[in-house]
Amino acid sequence: MSTSNEVQYYESDFDFDEHAAAVREQINHAEEEPEERLIAKHDENDDSLTPLSQADSWNQFHSHHSAGNFYKPRRYLLSAFPCIAQYLAGGDDASSIRVVLEVGCGSGSTCVPIIKECSKRCDMVNENIILLACDCSTTAVETTRRFIDGLVENESLRRPHFASFDADPSLTIDESPPFLSQVKSAHDDLMRDTELAGQLVANGDIGVAGIVLLVFVLSAVTPTRVNRFVQQIHETTAPGGKVCFRDYGLYDLPMLRFDSQACCRSSTSLGDPVYLRGEGTIARFFTLESTRAIFESAGFTTCELRYCTVYNINRKTRQKLKRVFVHGVFVKPHNDGTT
Ligand SMILES: C[S@@+](CC[C@H](N)C(=O)[O-])C[C@H]1O[C@@H](n2cnc3c(N)ncnc32)[C@H](O)[C@@H]1O
Repeated sequence: MSTSNEVQYYESDFDFDEHAAAVREQINHAEEEPEERLIAKHDENDDSLTPLSQADSWNQFHSHHSAGNFYKPRRYLLSAFPCIAQYLAGGDDASSIRVVLEVGCGSGSTCVPIIKECSKRCDMVNENIILLACDCSTTAVETTRRFIDGLVENESLRRPHFASFDADPSLTIDESPPFLSQVKSAHDDLMRDTELAGQLVANGDIGVAGIVLLVFVLSAVTPTRVNRFVQQIHETTAPGGKVCFRDYGLYDLPMLRFDSQACCRSSTSLGDPVYLRGEGTIARFFTLESTRAIFESAGFTTCELRYCTVYNINRKTRQKLKRVFVHGVFVKPHNDGTT
């Protein structure tokens, strides 16, 4: 457990290997799995899995939760990823423009701790921080905008340079403009009316984001498009920039619930189990090995990678629920190979 910014952060409440062994033991004693559950294959032509139908499912999800409070603010974010606060502080070059990009922003819950951290720092340096948030769901983008406007107003926070926009890095060149150009357009649109207007970045193909947040988004991406998604994230990350990754891990509680409810399951080429929720969205559960393979094959270097094990306490039953997440920090090396 560690404490920073008055938030208690837990990441090793129980031993992952022991938990995994107990789950495997249970599976061995369970009845043979029905054949039809295991045959589902991720087929590009499966209509329910295409990026467009996933965006539709997420639009419906966010329409049902338009108040923006389904996902709670990720208060642990800065404790889990100290590199974010370091980047915001600017290090040796506090006058440089710093771009934080969240992909798959949902209703903005991961943006909240960043905005609060920026607001706390009353120095002019904050004027150089740009927070961009995107999502494949236009409803999510709208919800995020509304939620952040409300937060800034209700809590009298200093308004950051902030924009939300719709984009999906899993789309091909035939389906959408390159993700990097969408991020640069959002960046420049935001900058145009500010004192930073002289520092537009539209030209050139060098990545712009010093920090990219991928928080519970990769698990929702069409499995056959995950490599493309991460490749476009790599293009968009500035050399030396970092990806902060958190997502569902193998044997996480929802995975065991999917299994106990005999939900349709399939497996990715890297062996990760994948399920389709009742509402049509994809839920994938990562191993450390699959996560490393995905990021390293896109050109990232792994800095941190581990399972986080956290007890959630059921308020009614007081039962301890075992959550498993994959935590990762990946860096895009500079052109000379240094990180
Ligand atoms: C589980 S929510 C997580 C939201 C937010 N990151 C958080 O921490 O609460 C996943 C979000 O990712 C978005 N998403 C799913 N696939 C995406 C894709 N291919 N590109 C961009 N966003 C995507 C969904 O619309 C949804 O808002």
